[in-house]
Amino acid sequence: MKVVEDMQAWRELRRQLRGSVGFVPTMGALHDGHASLLRRSKGMDDVTVLSIYVNPTQFNDPGDLANYPDTLDRDLELAAELGVDYVLLPAYADLYADGYRYKIEETDFSTALCGANRPGHFTGVLTVVMKLLNLVRPHRAYFGKKDYQQYLLVKDMCETFFMDVKIVGCETVRECDGLAMSSRNKLLDRKGRIAAGQFNAALQRAGSDAEVAARLRQYGFAVDYVETRGDRRFGAIVVACGENTVRLIDNVPVAAAGAV
Ligand code: PAF
Repeated sequence: MKVVEDMQAWRELRRQLRGSVGFVPTMGALHDGHASLLRRSKGMDDVTVLSIYVNPTQFNDPGDLANYPDTLDRDLELAAELGVDYVLLPAYADLYADGYRYKIEETDFSTALCGANRPGHFTGVLTVVMKLLNLVRPHRAYFGKKDYQQYLLVKDMCETFFMDVKIVGCETVRECDGLAMSSRNKLLDRKGRIAAGQFNAALQRAGSDAEVAARLRQYGFAVDYVETRGDRRFGAIVVACGENTVRLIDNVPVAAAGAV
């Protein structure tokens, strides 16, 4: 496995790569969900590229960015165990030499759900994903469906800009109690972790979105949104953990939600 920090060197390496390239972009703090994306790429593509970059432009809360878990040594061990070929570790200066003057902005779906209370979040996500896709030039890029809105927006962006990449959506990997694997789970304290186990089951319950939101509040969560759109019910909650708060998101197919 080659760890590449110099993006000019990477571009040279990329020019020499043969065969199909699979790409898994991440912000690190890797967990079994990321592992499943990497395994999928290993199964489908000749070369698997992982990027680890905590993208500041998608955080609207500086505290959230500062608290984002950093487990680089462990991440590199896991990547090596999984047989990743290249790990890219770009720096801000590599990705934002323009000072973030150029942005990819979507003006409809990105302002709903997770975008409603996080202004600029998806502009940051789409911009960095576009930059990473142009650097890696993968045949396939793998995204987890836990971040379903992100997956749909990235897919739509790639179609809109005629990009030669297939965006592959991969099923959410869950803990035994249904909690979706997320880097943010590492920030939960014991009590918060136990409580968070009720989130997925609550989203799956029959009843209206408002009833589900009320139940989540009864469990002690602050509810950002519970909203059924198309064939999915989406939810975002904030779990209080002592002085800190941890924001969690999830979604379930509507058939499972009993909402129709
Ligand atoms: O899902 C994530 O971890 C991030 O939003 C991504 C796609 C790596 C962009 O920073």
